[in-house]
Amino acid sequence: MKTILHLISSPRQESSFSIKLGRAIVTQLQEKHPDSVVNEVNLIHENFPHLDAPHLQSFFTPKEDLTAADREAIRYSDQAIDQLFKADFIVIGAPLYNFSIHSALKAWIDHVARAGLTFRYSEHGPEGLVKNKKVYIAMSAGGVYSKGPYQPYDFVVPYLQAVLGFMGMTDVTVYRAEGVNMPQLKEGALERAIASIAVEG
Ligand SMILES: Cc1cc2nc3c(=O)[nH]c(=O)nc-3n(C[C@H](O)[C@H](O)[C@H](O)COP(=O)(O)O)c2cc1C
Repeated sequence: MKTILHLISSPRQESSFSIKLGRAIVTQLQEKHPDSVVNEVNLIHENFPHLDAPHLQSFFTPKEDLTAADREAIRYSDQAIDQLFKADFIVIGAPLYNFSIHSALKAWIDHVARAGLTFRYSEHGPEGLVKNKKVYIAMSAGGVYSKGPYQPYDFVVPYLQAVLGFMGMTDVTVYRAEGVNMPQLKEGALERAIASIAVEG
């Protein structure tokens, strides 16, 4: 039995292209793995807090020394890391906001990137600890960033690949609904992205 973690980071609910694209990826995964369990996490609703002093203090306190207040501070982080380790497939909905990811997704990343849990430093340098995962990114953008003059302004895919890879998730496939706000491209942009999905694993 496979577990699919689907992260949503668009506030646009039923109008969102990244949510529709992500769900299409999930559907294809379910077709391949009919007994799979889907855990859809809406990061907009979850509203992970920005990292503050109590979070940081708790992150770097040994488990046996954590107070009740410390444990409360890392509740979001512990739960998100648990969901991540339990998943075989991770589908990340990533709308492009001001050339980067939505802050709700950034907050999730800040809570899951934890030294000693999802990565560690060894004598050989940094080592990702979240291994054997297949990640799909469902990106949506008003413009076109996969090629052309705006390609260098795509801080979504290179960033996600870097930070996920740092935590050990190196097998990342990207699907894009792009040009969704461009008159000549918006018609059929989502359908073209969905038609390009070919899940593996
Ligand atoms: C606050 C905001 C910032 C945006 N910034 C960009 C941008 O920098 N470049 C771009 O091409 N589109 C930008 N867009 C358009 C979104 O990428 C586009 O609407 C996309 O479909 C959003 O994903 P969603 O449909 O999953 O909500 C922005 C949209 C919003 C609401």
